[in-house]
Amino acid sequence: MTVQGSVAVQVLAARLSPGFTLGVASAAFQIEGSLSAGGRGPSGWDAFAEKPGSILDGHSPAVACDHYNRAPEDVELMRALGIDSYRFSISWPRIQPDGTGPFNAAGLDFYDRLIDQLLEAGISPMATLYHWDTPLPLEHRGGWMNRSTAERFAEYSAAAGRRFGDRVAQWVTLNEPVSVTLNGYALGVHAPGHDLLFKALPSVHHQLLGHGLAVQALRAAGVKGGIGVANLHSPVRPASRKISDRLLAKVFDLMMNRVYADPILLGHYPKPPLIARPWFRSLGKASDSDLRNIHQPLDFYGLNYYCPVKVATGPGPDHSPVGTTEAMARLPFHTADFPEYGTTGFGWPVAPEHLGILLRELKDRYGAALPPLYITESGASFPEPDHVSGPIADTNRIDYLASHLGHALAATSPGGIAEDVELLGYYVWTLLDNFEWAAGFSQRFGLVHVDFDTLERTPKDSYYWYQALARARRA
Ligand code: FCB
Repeated sequence: MTVQGSVAVQVLAARLSPGFTLGVASAAFQIEGSLSAGGRGPSGWDAFAEKPGSILDGHSPAVACDHYNRAPEDVELMRALGIDSYRFSISWPRIQPDGTGPFNAAGLDFYDRLIDQLLEAGISPMATLYHWDTPLPLEHRGGWMNRSTAERFAEYSAAAGRRFGDRVAQWVTLNEPVSVTLNGYALGVHAPGHDLLFKALPSVHHQLLGHGLAVQALRAAGVKGGIGVANLHSPVRPASRKISDRLLAKVFDLMMNRVYADPILLGHYPKPPLIARPWFRSLGKASDSDLRNIHQPLDFYGLNYYCPVKVATGPGPDHSPVGTTEAMARLPFHTADFPEYGTTGFGWPVAPEHLGILLRELKDRYGAALPPLYITESGASFPEPDHVSGPIADTNRIDYLASHLGHALAATSPGGIAEDVELLGYYVWTLLDNFEWAAGFSQRFGLVHVDFDTLERTPKDSYYWYQALARARRA
């Protein structure tokens, strides 16, 4: 590890309050593999990944990190890492293969064992109920475009709550509903691959309703843990002072940030600017009783932060891992570069100060309605070899994590720009290099390198850096 890294560790450790949670986050579909083993049913993502051209280089999620068979080894890696908490997702089709009806004993047992192994290792489980793997039979009935998926999701959540509620410390209902709507239903670059553009908005409302019903179902099931949601947020900036850029940035901000958080935290959808009203019309029709169901008190708010977004007028060179799609070319705006920042392997700007700015913006927007907050995902991919022998000097990832955690802590400390935000913890995305959705195995985000031929795990320098941070805090 670099000297610079070890200095940053002491500085950061000194800023962590005693109860602050250090964790790592993951998602079932990205790591488990064994897609048809142990009675698991197919998900919309299984079907999407089989369609030629949907995943970069035709990579398959069938094995991924083989975590389904190697969970004890992975928990051991986390124990040695010294983290306080592990955020994982429960695969809905693994525990309820059809998304409705009977539950799968082998699937339930898998998560039972995982939770017990975590507790034995002194790691507090944070369970996400939905990280994008909708059971395929439900996707065939419209997925989140169909209102009844919200009710099915609440039933599944109740069952998970009854089974694991005595041991899970934190529950996350949905992961990034914005990504599901934008990438999955509006642009077609993620499962289920629909390109409905603004006609995808009912999938927002149904996911939010699913969230609200799930919160109530978990509470009715008597779960002991806290309940929250994980939303992706990005500060949105116009590419220039031109009025059209500013207006479209506002529209993008609504789509990206506000239509998910406002109903959950405030109980209503935001008012779109006049010219954008026709696009958002379907959300304006939400009933009061739906909004009451969505607006449930939360124990915490989960923030996934990767980068800010710049918006410019007109269709443009937006791109997904599999190229510019036809749907993107039909949008009235595109995202533009931030030339002042370096970029990650995904081409995302590295802009840690925007994490502090974002915390400020969230507090300004939601005030007392903003619950105490966890950063539920933060991390970066950088080009790294597929096969390694010996140490992996991922100084770029160490710098990324140290600067993001550093800015979040500075912003929320007394005198910081977001000192009135209660920051409870930070989860690195992610423990293992894994199946990065449409980008296949091309983007390595892990603290631990995975060789996808041998499945060998090799901790990178960033793993040892995070370990040093966890230790320094206790020293
Ligand atoms: C987030 C997703 C997560 C992972 C990271 C890189 O948007 O929640 O599954 O893909 O991006």
